[in-house]
Amino acid sequence: MTHLQNREVVSAKRTALAIDGGTPVRSPDQRWPKWPVSPKKAHEVLSEVLESGRWTLSSAGGRELFERRFARMFADYLDVRHCVPVDHGSSALVIAMEALGLEHGTPVLVPALTWVAPATAAFRAGLLPVLVDVDPDTGIVGPDAVDPAVGAGAVVAVHLACVMADVPSITAVAQQHGMAVVEDAAQAHGARWLGQAAGSMGRLGCFSMQQSKVLTGAEGGAVVTDDADLAAVLEELRADSRRYPGEPIGGGRLELVESATSMGANFCMNEFSAAILCAQFDDLEAQHVTRNTNYRRLTELLADVDGVRVLQPRAEQTQTSIYQGGIVFDPLPATMPNDRVAEALTAELGVLFFPPREPLHRSRLLRPWMKPSLGPVAERFRQQHLDRRYPHAEYFARHAVLTHHSTFLGDEQDMADIATAVRKVVTAGFGR
Ligand SMILES: Cc1ncc(COP(=O)(O)O)c(C=O)c1O
Repeated sequence: MTHLQNREVVSAKRTALAIDGGTPVRSPDQRWPKWPVSPKKAHEVLSEVLESGRWTLSSAGGRELFERRFARMFADYLDVRHCVPVDHGSSALVIAMEALGLEHGTPVLVPALTWVAPATAAFRAGLLPVLVDVDPDTGIVGPDAVDPAVGAGAVVAVHLACVMADVPSITAVAQQHGMAVVEDAAQAHGARWLGQAAGSMGRLGCFSMQQSKVLTGAEGGAVVTDDADLAAVLEELRADSRRYPGEPIGGGRLELVESATSMGANFCMNEFSAAILCAQFDDLEAQHVTRNTNYRRLTELLADVDGVRVLQPRAEQTQTSIYQGGIVFDPLPATMPNDRVAEALTAELGVLFFPPREPLHRSRLLRPWMKPSLGPVAERFRQQHLDRRYPHAEYFARHAVLTHHSTFLGDEQDMADIATAVRKVVTAGFGR
């Protein structure tokens, strides 16, 4: 091969996509930030739990529970009066819906584009999830989805990826029709709307602290509210009808009393998770700043690429919490649906990009008729959704590509590489 031919081969390999055998934008030895990040005090607090003999809250009184410390810290962080920690974000949604005291089978509006948990939680609380469409630009549920014709008792306002739902506007419409607003802030720890924290604006706010979340205790969750009566009910719902007595219990006795004004189940957060969560608080704000700075950089770097838009919160969102960063491609390259774009970016960069989940009306994860215990509510769900269409959820699911928040914990060079990869994919896809 001549020198000239050799140069042509090298240049063709550079412009060919890595999924087609070309040279990737980043070499495999260039690492991305890892998640989860182990907090500095992790060993100290975990040993404290181990040695104390109090591994969960249903244990004899002794040292102060990390679960109590976490509840205080998280309530302060969100400026709410009460926080009830639980074992999963899904459990948070279940007890939040139970706490509303709705009749069995009452419809609850749930956005068609979200993780399956708000819908399964409605079933678990004896309610009927009714899926509603979302905004095509952001994938988020808005006030126009609050359809009074459904006769719903509640609407779940889900904050997704890095975009908050407009809870004040949703609440204004919901209240006119006697619906409660439950915020699903599983993906929005620390996000704020005109200064108000995600989770603090609805009647109840639900969080997940599962491993992928920006604040994590491996598994975990919490419900927050300003309503003291609801908080007392939530405590019972998550601890088999028991609550804290409000004063120390001595004599090696259990630190819970059987108040039993409502019937609960066991959704308690364990002390190892609570301890890690307390320790993680030290890093949360600095991580928010790093992610937001990088996200702004990426937005600027891609501003001049036609047909590419970095997902942005609305102007009212005064603080962003990035759970997933999103890039919307419109139009999509003819030969590349968004799952192929995601694969192409993953191959160029060595970090995972993926399409949004399929909308819930066609999700394999939401087939309530497979659970005999749901009885006729499952059949009502099937009937309710036979003729419903979700064009905006479908649009967003087909045009967006997402990446986990840890991708934004790196530096300027990482963002430059993502921008280079996006340009390369767009150029190859359109044959530009
Ligand atoms: C929007 C949303 N809601 C609820 C949940 C459920 O949380 P968990 O997995 O802790 O049960 C998740 C988890 O990913 C979520 O993303």
